[in-house]
Formats: sequence, C-alpha cells, structure tokens
Amino acid sequence: MKAVSVKEAGSIEVIEKEKPEIREKNEVLVQIKMVGICGSDMHIYHGTNPLATYPRVIGHEVTGEVVEIGEQVNTLKPGDKVVLEPIDTCGTCYACRNGRSNVCQNLEVYGVHRDGGMQQYIVVPSANLHKVEPDVPYQASVLVEPFTIGAQANWRGQVQEGDSVLIQGAGPIGICCLKMAKLLGAKCYITDLSEERLAFAKQSGADEVIHAGNKDVEQEIMSLTSGEGANVVIDAVCIPHTFELGVRVASNAGRIVVLGFTEQTSAIPQLPLTKQELTVVGSRLQTNQFPNVIKRLNQKELNVDGMVTHTFPVEDIQEALEYIERYPDEVRKAVMTF
Ligand SMILES: NC(=O)c1ccc[n+]([C@@H]2O[C@H](COP(=O)([O-])OP(=O)(O)OC[C@H]3O[C@@H](n4cnc5c(N)ncnc54)[C@H](O)[C@@H]3O)[C@@H](O)[C@H]2O)c1
Ligand SMILES: [Zn+2]
Ligand SMILES: [Zn+2]
Repeated sequence: MKAVSVKEAGSIEVIEKEKPEIREKNEVLVQIKMVGICGSDMHIYHGTNPLATYPRVIGHEVTGEVVEIGEQVNTLKPGDKVVLEPIDTCGTCYACRNGRSNVCQNLEVYGVHRDGGMQQYIVVPSANLHKVEPDVPYQASVLVEPFTIGAQANWRGQVQEGDSVLIQGAGPIGICCLKMAKLLGAKCYITDLSEERLAFAKQSGADEVIHAGNKDVEQEIMSLTSGEGANVVIDAVCIPHTFELGVRVASNAGRIVVLGFTEQTSAIPQLPLTKQELTVVGSRLQTNQFPNVIKRLNQKELNVDGMVTHTFPVEDIQEALEYIERYPDEVRKAVMTF
C-alpha cells in the first residue's frame, strides 16, 4: 500500500509499505479516505517541528472507513465512517488523572511522534476512532480534528452565550475557533492581514472583521465593545505581538487563550492581569471534544461549506505542499485523497 513519508527534513516521498494487520483484540483496521494538510505537517516536512522524529508518515486530520474489527470491539462495525482522534496517552500521569490527557506527560500524537494517517490503511485502538453519520461527506469529516482545536480553545476561554470574543487570525484554526464560538452564542470579531481570509471569515459568521494591517485593532475592539474590551481573546496568529495585544484588549475578568508554539517571549506587564483579574491560558489539541464536534456535524449545526478548497491524490503530495506555500490566499484547507 502507499504511504506519505517524510524521510528526513526537506524530503517527502510516497513509499510502498506493507498493509497493517489487527494484532490486538481492541484494534480496528481503517481504510483511509481523506487526510487534511495542516501547518504542523508543513513544519515536520521543513524540519521545524522539534517534537517530530524521522522517518515519519505524517497526517493527523484523518477520516476513513472501518474495514475489519478486533474480537473485543463492539462500538464499530465494518463500513462505518470514522475520524481518528490522533493522540495516545498514558492514563496515569497527573494530567491524565485530572481529565487533561491532551497534555499527558507521555503524549504521542499520530503523524508527529508515531506514524499518522497519510497511508492507505491504518490499525488503531477502537478508542481512537469516532463514528460519524454516513451522510456526512468526507470533505466535512476530514475537518473534525481542526474543529476540535477550535472547540478546545473556546472551552479553555470559557466562552459563553453573549460574550464578546476576539479571534486573531483567520487561518483554518481561527475559522474553526470562530465557528465554534458562534455555536456557543458569542459575538465574534476576527482579524487577519488577508482580505480573502477576512471575506471568508465574514461568510463564516464573524460579526465584524478587522484588517490588522490597515486598522488599529485595539481601538476597533474598544469601540466595538463600548470601551469594555473583549471578554475572550483567542490568539490564532501566535506571535509575541498578538499575545501582547490580546492582553491589552481583554475586558475585566477576561480570558486570553494562546495556541502558539513559539519560544519567543512576549512582554506582558503584571498590572492588567492583577487589576482586571485576567486569565491567560494555553490550549493544546483537545480533550473530549470529538463527540461534541461530531454531534454538531451530524446534526448539521456546523456548516463547513467552502473550507476545503483543494484536493490532491496521494501521489501528488509534493505538488500539494508547494501549492499551499505558493498560494496561501487561495488555499483554505487542502486535503489528500486515498
Ligand atoms: N495549540 C494547538 O493545539 C494548535 C493546533 C493547531 C494549530 N495551532 C497553531 O495555531 C496557529 C494558527 O494555525 P493556522 O493553521 O490557522 O495558521 P495560518 O498561518 O494558516 O493562519 C494564521 C493567520 O494569521 C494571519 N496573521 C498573521 N499576522 C497577523 C496579525 N498580526 N494580525 C492578524 N492576523 C495575522 C495570517 O494572515 C493567517 O491568515 C499556528 O500558530 C499553529 O501552530 C495550534
Ligand atoms: Zn492539524
Ligand atoms: Zn498521561
């Protein structure tokens, strides 16, 4: 069978690999149908993801069909449409014991620390698979994983109905945060530097879009919130500047959610944190968000039209990566088909 392997930084190829087999009673064999390409796949390819080891079959935004189930599996059957929850956790560390297994001390992410979904078949424990309704197209189920990131950011920010939420960045993650915040009944403002991305954000439900290059975001937010500030700021740009800005525009009792992996420092003074009792939190991957997102997708509450803009067959992985980098304004989400 075919698999997309990053042999080492800068070198990606489609390899022939033996089809995997079920070995444990709780395992499931899945035929992969579609895999999203994410910024972190690009980082693994370029050698800028410090967690990745090589060679690596990439891909963590994965959807497919169950082919075969182990003896003990009673939650799935052949023919079921599924998405992969791409994390493996130890279950015993402090984070796991406290319901936060997404930050397990011994966390392994499929497609990063171990082989992921860009291959024709994969065998995984049934607990890592979530069933979706058969009428949900693969172009939608392939987006479940990034939407769980958005759901987690909203949970970490304790977004509630009526809250004003500023989302910085209208890339795929910003859009996923936006759509989940709208489902929670928030009023949403979103920034970006690209007119195309802002236009799509508006189409995706943003109450106001702000061009961060042409407008003073701080002033705009203060005026839109009548001087109160945003109750929640989600940073889906993830640079020192946006983190600092987030703290400046948060309301009293506000929450600032960061999603970035940069090691660059931001200059955050103590005064606003104390005076306004701000809560600054990180958000990584997700805990228990797959059922939440899938339910909304099954029930057609979550509309993902227009998000997948480009589809490439597995053989064209190299072209896909080059295309994404050359036309960032055109590509919202590119997916590989198998
Ligand atoms: N914590 C997690 O679990 C997690 C998961 C996935 C992605 N991420 C991170 O989330 C971030 C966003 O991911 P993405 O795939 O949407 O990336 P992306 O690069 O596609 O989107 C970022 C957007 O920010 C815009 N931008 C740049 N500078 C800006 C500024 N000053 N103000 C406003 N907008 C600006 C860009 O135009 C772009 O549209 C990345 O840093 C990624 O590493 C975190
Ligand atoms: Zn991703
Ligand atoms: Zn653990």
